[in-house]
Amino acid sequence: MQEVDDSEAKQVYAKQLLEACGGDPKLALEQLKIAAKAKRNAAKYTPKNSEVIVSVDGVSKSYKMGKTQVGALESVKLDIYRGEFIAITGTSGSGKSTLLQLIGGLDKPSKGKITVGGQDLSKLRDGKLSRFRNQTIGFIFQFFYLQPFLRLQTNIEVPAMFARTKRVTRKAKSSETAATVGLSDRLRHYPRELSGGQMQRAAIARALQNNPEILLADEPTGNLDRTNATAIFDLFKKIRDEQGTTVIVVTHDVALASLADRAIHMSDGRITA
Ligand SMILES: Nc1ncnc2c1ncn2[C@@H]1O[C@H](COP(=O)(O)OP(=O)(O)OP(=O)(O)O)[C@@H](O)[C@H]1O
Ligand SMILES: [Mg+2]
Repeated sequence: MQEVDDSEAKQVYAKQLLEACGGDPKLALEQLKIAAKAKRNAAKYTPKNSEVIVSVDGVSKSYKMGKTQVGALESVKLDIYRGEFIAITGTSGSGKSTLLQLIGGLDKPSKGKITVGGQDLSKLRDGKLSRFRNQTIGFIFQFFYLQPFLRLQTNIEVPAMFARTKRVTRKAKSSETAATVGLSDRLRHYPRELSGGQMQRAAIARALQNNPEILLADEPTGNLDRTNATAIFDLFKKIRDEQGTTVIVVTHDVALASLADRAIHMSDGRITA
């Protein structure tokens, strides 16, 4: 009996999948491959995994402003574990964005070392650093930075275009990430036809497009009301649980930060709690 039920469920799933892919079997097959990969990734993740994925070791950063130096980070030491969902709080100017930019390889420390997935970022030269940013990291910002003249599905596919992913794989993946963030029914919309919460979810789908190991989000809920902001944090948790992605989120909002596994606090360029 069980077997019959199981095969019926599979048939229903196959039918739904085919419908969702507009009757295109090639697209449906790609979707299945992607789903299987996500399942394998999730299996690798255990909540108490002890592997350090991001190591920030004695990092300082200062900016040269004419003849003076502006200190942004001062001897920061931080280990983040694979699959952790971590929130960074702190007052304006305390160095949160600077720390995120250094972890994402967008800028370099003045002192100290940053290692991501065992790779010393200072050793990565141009091409490899771009690949690291495109493949290992997914970036999410406060102002979604969606392209206004591209439909949602194409917006989501932008990082995959840079990665030269095949069109059919791109389409399948963008359909899948749109489903993850609950936007399957908005794929043909332009950004101006979406709500703020939907735009931010679209930006998250875009960040997931190349299966990044780490999501970096800088004030992703800064433009959202409480309900939408909480939904975004719940979504991060879901992505972490299902795909084992490490999530690092900067927020001013201490109540939201408490939804993460761990919250660290910064002031004056240092981690204080
Ligand atoms: N490109 C830059 N050139 C000069 N100074 C900078 C630059 N970027 C940041 N700073 C300075 O470094 C310090 C830390 O800035 P950062 O943007 O990291 O703060 P933050 O915690 O993200 O603040 P906010 O909550 O307002 O976004 C600030 O004093 C800022 O003025
Ligand atoms: Mg900032």
